[in-house]
Amino acid sequence: MIIGTVVLLLPLVFCSAKAQGKAYNDTCSPGTDTCATGQICKVDGTTANTNRCLCDTNHHWVVNNGNGCQCDSGNHWVANSSSTGCQCSTGYTGATCKASLGTACTSTNDCDTTTIATAVCDVLAQPAVCKIQGTGDCTGRTNQCVSNATCTNNVCVCTAKYTTNTGKLCGTVLGSTCNAAADCNTTVPHSDCSGGKTCTCITGYTVNGTDCKAALGTACTSTNDCDTTTIATAVCDVLAQPAVCKIQGTGDCTGRTNQCVSNATCTNNVCVCTAKYTTNTGKLCGTVLGSTCNAAADCNTTVPHSDCSGGKTCTCITGYTVNGTDCKAVLGSTCNTAADCNTTVPHSDCSGGKTCTCITGYAVQGAVCKAGLNTTCTATTDCATVTTADAVCDLNAASKICSVGSGGDCTNAKCVSHATCTSNVCTCDTGYTTTTSKLCVESNGNMNILSLALTLTSVFAVYIL
Ligand SMILES: *[C@@H]1O[C@H](CO)[C@@H](O)[C@H](O)[C@H]1NC(C)=O
Ligand SMILES: *[C@@H]1O[C@H](CO)[C@@H](O)[C@H](O)[C@H]1NC(C)=O
Ligand SMILES: *[C@@H]1O[C@H](CO)[C@@H](O)[C@H](O)[C@H]1NC(C)=O
Ligand SMILES: *[C@@H]1O[C@H](CO)[C@@H](O)[C@H](O)[C@H]1NC(C)=O
Ligand SMILES: *[C@@H]1O[C@H](CO)[C@@H](O)[C@H](O)[C@H]1NC(C)=O
Ligand SMILES: *[C@@H]1O[C@H](CO)[C@@H](O)[C@H](O)[C@H]1NC(C)=O
Ligand SMILES: *[C@@H]1O[C@H](CO)[C@@H](O)[C@H](O)[C@H]1NC(C)=O
Ligand SMILES: *[C@@H]1O[C@H](CO)[C@@H](O)[C@H](O)[C@H]1NC(C)=O
Ligand SMILES: *[C@@H]1O[C@H](CO)[C@@H](O)[C@H](O)[C@H]1NC(C)=O
Ligand SMILES: *[C@@H]1O[C@H](CO)[C@@H](O)[C@H](O)[C@H]1NC(C)=O
Repeated sequence: MIIGTVVLLLPLVFCSAKAQGKAYNDTCSPGTDTCATGQICKVDGTTANTNRCLCDTNHHWVVNNGNGCQCDSGNHWVANSSSTGCQCSTGYTGATCKASLGTACTSTNDCDTTTIATAVCDVLAQPAVCKIQGTGDCTGRTNQCVSNATCTNNVCVCTAKYTTNTGKLCGTVLGSTCNAAADCNTTVPHSDCSGGKTCTCITGYTVNGTDCKAALGTACTSTNDCDTTTIATAVCDVLAQPAVCKIQGTGDCTGRTNQCVSNATCTNNVCVCTAKYTTNTGKLCGTVLGSTCNAAADCNTTVPHSDCSGGKTCTCITGYTVNGTDCKAVLGSTCNTAADCNTTVPHSDCSGGKTCTCITGYAVQGAVCKAGLNTTCTATTDCATVTTADAVCDLNAASKICSVGSGGDCTNAKCVSHATCTSNVCTCDTGYTTTTSKLCVESNGNMNILSLALTLTSVFAVYIL
């Protein structure tokens, strides 16, 4: 057992003695002595004609604390296991081991621009890595364009609102150099080439990343357009004409008393929706009617005759109809004032201070009050036909009133102009004929006012001659 071990060890000791015969900095004879891995037998540079086993700098070996040699890890060299030389560590390439695309860097000097001439250190990325700059060829390397660029038709192209900056990265258009407004506002709305030099937001807008956001009072189409960095409660008040950025209900309006959304006032430095308006899902002050609610009081405290329908939405109770912010009584419903009725139902009144009814001279027809016979009108649609089927607006009368039209029953009623009540039926007078609208017009249909005037003129002319 002991003998066997000794026999086995012998060749190993011999082998080791041959390979490690010379330690680092030992004197040696070139061609005769073998130095340890990473070392070569060379003139030491201090003592004339003395050769020593020193680090093979040609193959990137460096002194390891004066105790042998190791590859220059600081420059990304690692030992090549299949040779005595060093090779670039993973992610580094070339004679000086520069960072490949996708490898960490601190400046473009770290990147391998020998392999990829357009490689730059993308310091906008976290962490910074070598990437292909804007306009660079990305054939076969579609994921290697700098931040905010995409490989399009084999070329790295800065995405919208980004442009190649002096560092050859895709920086925001805002802040980039420019020659004309179009260099800025083609991609970034509400920007301009300030001083003909730098893309900036125009007055009324502030920079937010790649965009120019609207200040309070500036036009918008949605809240996304508004500067919510300066005023977190800014919203696009789409109820205003035109829509502008304003402070939402419950928002702080200190020093900005005119900047609350429509139907809100700045009260004790807070935007408060006015009566009959409430903060809606869009954070604007919308009408209480139609807003979400939990209880009747959420609705009828500010809007009389409303209720929380289905426990969900403020609506007018039965007998009342929505008119803007209010619930107005329909005919037959209880009321307090004339306005409760006639705001939505013209020619109605709060009769006896209790019930909405049509005023004298008008008759209920469906949900509205229509003019009865002898009551003024402007069109036949104004006249009630529930009581007198053939009632029409007598457009040929000096003062237009609803009368019985041609062919209608005129028992105790007045016929339209140029008609006479004959056997209780309105009949057009001699020389007049009935029209489809039940009026009576002169039989000579061609004899309109103009031709009558021409006839009179010619008669007059003949008389003079
Ligand atoms: C090598 O040894 C010599 C002689 O002792 C010494 O002068 C020299 O500094 C050493 N060189 C290194 C690199 O250790
Ligand atoms: C390692 O060294 C061998 C022999 O010199 C060489 O063929 C090979 O390319 C080297 N490997 C690398 C990764 O440099
Ligand atoms: C622009 O690049 C930065 C850094 O990679 C990234 O954080 C940002 O989201 C990019 N912008 C857009 C609009 O993609
Ligand atoms: C860019 O600005 C110029 C100068 O103010 C203006 O004439 C042009 O209409 C703007 N273009 C866009 C797309 O806003
Ligand atoms: C841009 O606006 C958003 C939303 O208000 C905010 O979170 C972000 O900090 C702003 N960025 C800059 C650069 O102003
Ligand atoms: C509510 O706001 C709208 C839009 O600004 C406005 O037209 C309307 O008059 C306001 N309502 C009241 C009662 O002030
Ligand atoms: C609101 O409606 C509830 C339920 O119908 C009722 O009890 C309450 O008196 C109403 N309040 C007002 C102010 O109308
Ligand atoms: C409603 O009635 C009142 C009282 O008669 C009147 O003053 C008011 O002008 C009427 N309003 C409408 C819209 O008719
Ligand atoms: C509300 O009342 C006003 C005033 O009478 C009227 O002009 C308007 O058309 C009404 N609106 C609705 C939706 O009924
Ligand atoms: C309309 O006036 C006529 C007389 O001009 C009268 O006979 C008739 O009773 C009146 N009708 C109504 C409904 O007031």
